[in-house]
Amino acid sequence: MSEAKLQVDNLSIQFINDGRTTDAVRNVSFSLGREKLAIVGESGSGKSTVGRSLLRLHPASARISADTLRFGDLNLLDADEKTLRSIRGRRISMIMQDPKYSLNPVMTVGAQITEAYLAHHRVSQREARKQTLEMLEKVHIRDPERVYSLYPHEVSGGMGQRIMIAMMLIPNPEIIIADEPTSALDVSVQQQVLSVLDELVTQRNLGLIFISHDLNLVRNFCDRVLVMYAGRVVESIRAADLDQAQHPYTRGLLAALPSLTQRRERLPVLQRDPSWLTD
Ligand SMILES: Nc1ncnc2c1ncn2[C@@H]1O[C@H](COP(=O)(O)OP(=O)(O)O)[C@@H](O)[C@H]1O
Ligand SMILES: [Mg+2]
Repeated sequence: MSEAKLQVDNLSIQFINDGRTTDAVRNVSFSLGREKLAIVGESGSGKSTVGRSLLRLHPASARISADTLRFGDLNLLDADEKTLRSIRGRRISMIMQDPKYSLNPVMTVGAQITEAYLAHHRVSQREARKQTLEMLEKVHIRDPERVYSLYPHEVSGGMGQRIMIAMMLIPNPEIIIADEPTSALDVSVQQQVLSVLDELVTQRNLGLIFISHDLNLVRNFCDRVLVMYAGRVVESIRAADLDQAQHPYTRGLLAALPSLTQRRERLPVLQRDPSWLTD
């Protein structure tokens, strides 16, 4: 693997609300180079909290600690707001689950992508528009001129998510964090959006953190998988080696996958062991 762009050692995050403490993330460690890393686990396992912490985007109720939280040469733990703003969206981008909440409803999609480009590049409006149209083509939008002037409510979910990918990639970031980017989409368009993201990440040789609850979805296109359970990483494994996964939770997730080739009356219920919380 090439040099690590991100290095995370013993990251822990707690939320403190009304004197109650939730241990959302416990001693999580990983590194990310120019590769596709999946973070998989069921809802509430801490995936999004890990993702947001890499941009230092968490509510005031969060307490964050780590031995290392490094992006390149930069220590993210003690970076000031100004430094963080120069990284967010520019060097590390985040694609969220639902484009409806990420796009501005009163601006055309083209104007939003153009704005994202102009925020980081000193070029004319005309040049930014040209770059935007090219970017729309790269996310396989067939009629970019027409789509440029549509409002977010006028585009389908799948197209909306491809527009988000265009907007997040146009500043040419080094790392993309995609948090369940296809979970709000119909199964029929999920694969289409995934392959667009995969294609661009591969072409540009970026680092990708792909957050998902769906091990079946990620194993086919990610290089490595971190499996999270109750705030911890219980297994870190190459996607190609998943069939040899050791941890019973990972094995449970694998066994819970519906199979196209094998008929089953019902999906097995995951057996949980309290020792997973302390190992
Ligand atoms: N702002 C918050 N305040 C309090 N608890 C939170 C907050 N955000 C997340 N949590 C808790 O942290 C844990 C991990 O949440 P999250 O990272 O969203 O999980 P995932 O993305 O895997 O579904 C959950 O127990 C969740 O309830
Ligand atoms: Mg989440």
